[in-house]
Amino acid sequence: MRVAIVGSGYVGLVASACFAELGHEVICADNDAEKIAALTAGEVPIHEEFLPELLARHRGRHLSFTGSLAEAVRNSEVVFIAVGTPPTPQGDADLSYVEAVAREIGLQLNNYTVIVEKSTVPVFTCQRVRRVVAMNANAPVEFDVASNPEFLREGTAVTDFLYPDRIVIGTDTERSARILQRLYEPMTSGAYYGRPNAIASPSASVRIPPPLVITSSQSAELIKHASNAFLAMKISFINAVANICEAVGADVTQVCQGVGLDTRIGQRFLRPGIGWGGSCFPKDVMAFRAVAQECGYDFGLLHEVTRINDEQRNRFLRKIRNTLWTLKGKRLAVLGLAFKGGTDDIRESPAIALIRDLEQESCAIAAYDPAAMDRARVELEGLNVTFCTSPYEAAHDADALLILTDWDEFGALDLPRLRNALKYPIVLDGRNLYPTDLMAEQGFTYASVGRPTVAPVQKPLLSVTVTGKAQ
Ligand code: UDX
Ligand code: UDX
Repeated sequence: MRVAIVGSGYVGLVASACFAELGHEVICADNDAEKIAALTAGEVPIHEEFLPELLARHRGRHLSFTGSLAEAVRNSEVVFIAVGTPPTPQGDADLSYVEAVAREIGLQLNNYTVIVEKSTVPVFTCQRVRRVVAMNANAPVEFDVASNPEFLREGTAVTDFLYPDRIVIGTDTERSARILQRLYEPMTSGAYYGRPNAIASPSASVRIPPPLVITSSQSAELIKHASNAFLAMKISFINAVANICEAVGADVTQVCQGVGLDTRIGQRFLRPGIGWGGSCFPKDVMAFRAVAQECGYDFGLLHEVTRINDEQRNRFLRKIRNTLWTLKGKRLAVLGLAFKGGTDDIRESPAIALIRDLEQESCAIAAYDPAAMDRARVELEGLNVTFCTSPYEAAHDADALLILTDWDEFGALDLPRLRNALKYPIVLDGRNLYPTDLMAEQGFTYASVGRPTVAPVQKPLLSVTVTGKAQ
């Protein structure tokens, strides 16, 4: 099928590469000319596993890029809108980019087209898009508007797209439902997964083929907001439990295991830490609350979910202060800048917020991140932050080491080397990457989240036997 995707951000670019991988002819449009030039030249603007392979495989064959929305729309049967929906100062979603794109699509339509909303948007956006497209069409033209929310996570976006827990199609006509079903047919029939060069399944437990859920457009829009809000709530809940664990001397890892083994609750998204960030949870929790408010329902729970999240970061800051006593003039090594491991995205990253707070308190920061340093350099320009080439360089002569992002490599450090590099063997781990007893044995003072802080294990002194006569 001929597919256009408007927007080449995380969602648009990954969807473009994956639809091409499924065998469709994809044209991806973006109004950022530099980005389009870079993509056309073969650059990969975001750090995402398997994306470079897919772009290389399909670019110039089943996948092209354009700065012209008109070109993209005119030749496509399905047009996806995947532009950003950032929060307004009031917390609701700014839909002006979506509206602008809908207007332009209206101007270009010449054949029956299915317009699909893929960005996360409030309920009733499909209806509004439908109106804007109709108002701007030059002549009466047939079209449908549907919602097909995307559930991919940054860092695992390609496999999340190709091996989803479910595909949701929200549409109000049979005709558009059939077209969107055809679009996903290589996945829902299982055919894609039998191909010799298919991207491999991320785990043995994924459901193949993925189930397809067909709903009304309003339900699909709500499914996306409700899913993100629920996941954010799950993390805030376990962070609150972690704080109680700290108060009573319990270990949140054990509590999570015991709670998560209940299949009604599940182990996933139950990792405590310094709070959730990223381009989705913070804005979607706020936007969902604003949607509820507009419908006359006060969804106060969502306010609490955000409050716990903000407090979690502040608690960690207090923990750093308590451990180091005073902060002014301290040199701190920071591992992690991205909002989570596996991505170079620093939008709403708790690590960046903490670095700003610490720098305000006159700390000097030596930071390392495997992928997010270029973006962080721009974001933190002018602050007392140096960027290092390895965790050990960051740790060199530092008063303490902070782990702020859950990159796999931060959980596999050479601990004796780290201890030797640091001025004082103090590690504050905001992501619980190490067993506490291991860190104590390795000679660290180790503070984490929801677990007892441990001090270095003292090596037993040689026992001395005193012989001789007592006086
Ligand atoms: C996406 C979704 O849009 C958002 O709703 C969801 O909640 C998170 O993921 P993302 O892909 O991360 O956002 O957005 P971003 O990286 O901001 O990319 C949007 C792209 O659209 C940019 O490349 C931008 O240049 C482009 N754009 C924006 C247009 O082409 N036209 C516009 O009018 C506005
Ligand atoms: C999220 C949703 O998971 C995805 O379905 C949606 O399409 C977009 O928003 P993303 O923001 O890429 O994806 O990352 P995610 O893995 O959900 O992590 C979000 C934040 O929560 C990160 O800051 C992460 O560190 C944190 N997190 C996640 C925890 O603190 N604990 C957990 O157990 C899981």
